[in-house]
Amino acid sequence: MTEKLFGKMPDGTPVEEYTLRDGELSCGVITYGGALRSLVLPDRAGKPVDILLGFDTLEDYQRQDKYIGALIGRYANRIGGSRFVLEGQEYRLAANESPNHLHGGVTGFDKQVWGVESALENTLTLTLQSPDGQEGYPGNLEVTVTYTLGDSALSIDYRAVSDRTTLCNLTNHAYWNLSGHNSGDIREQQFRLPNSRYTPVDAGAIPTGTIDPVEGTPMDLRQLQALGKREYDHNWAIDNWDGTLRLAAQAFSPGTGIDMEVLTTLPGIQFYTGNFLDGCPKGKGGAVYPRHGAFCLETQYYPNSPNIPDFPSAVLPAGEVWRSKTVYRFGKRDHHD
Ligand code: BGC
Repeated sequence: MTEKLFGKMPDGTPVEEYTLRDGELSCGVITYGGALRSLVLPDRAGKPVDILLGFDTLEDYQRQDKYIGALIGRYANRIGGSRFVLEGQEYRLAANESPNHLHGGVTGFDKQVWGVESALENTLTLTLQSPDGQEGYPGNLEVTVTYTLGDSALSIDYRAVSDRTTLCNLTNHAYWNLSGHNSGDIREQQFRLPNSRYTPVDAGAIPTGTIDPVEGTPMDLRQLQALGKREYDHNWAIDNWDGTLRLAAQAFSPGTGIDMEVLTTLPGIQFYTGNFLDGCPKGKGGAVYPRHGAFCLETQYYPNSPNIPDFPSAVLPAGEVWRSKTVYRFGKRDHHD
């Protein structure tokens, strides 16, 4: 593990970068947004490839509005109308994607400097205190996120406790490109979402409330297939969700032979194909990140669940511990059958 100063916030607060190592894997994390900044592993020829988008300076992180690599909270994805009712009381949230609330609001967890609870060779634990009323949410929320490299995987363990009943839906917004962060568009890369149902959305990307079969629709990605000309920004429902770790998605680059599986304890996963990536500042080493230059697989409660009683609930009762785990597991293959 190495630690170095990455930059300073306008008020002088230092932002550090930690680089974790385990065998052939290394992973950079900055304390601004708790963001994943790099993940380097060998391709099938043994050449190191960095498969995460990121920036060279803190200023670029602050300038971009794509949530690159960041931890997202309190509520990942959208809450329709930027409002919800909890225990009979209405709460109004920041409408940062008017009229809706996206990824925790104007100053979500992605824009805050996280504290470091512990840092070892292959594991880093970050903490954040989100005060009562921040972005409109009730309760003082204490959040702990642990990144761990091991067994050819990056694991993320999330934990949160609040002194009042609140909402909690934490995720990470890593942008992956399994051919290398600077390799351009991902259309040749292959994807599989083994899930048989998804949540259809309206024009504002807010779920309509049904959970529909993927069968016979472009959402049917149960067989590994190249992205091609399609684009996605949807939530899939994990089959037989019971809070245990389940396979939620798989991605593969025929170019590098790098294969990634995503497992989660949460009920949903957003597959987003970087449809709005253009306009991003230049990335690491001057890399250009075009539209469809990366994909995100964000494990989550379903978007807008606070307003849809039939969806699994993201309500965190006062004093109870919220936990979730996401694993990104890497392998190498010549090809997929
Ligand atoms: C959302 C997209 C949004 C993106 C922001 C994704 O999680 O589903 O709609 O544009 O985050 O970068």
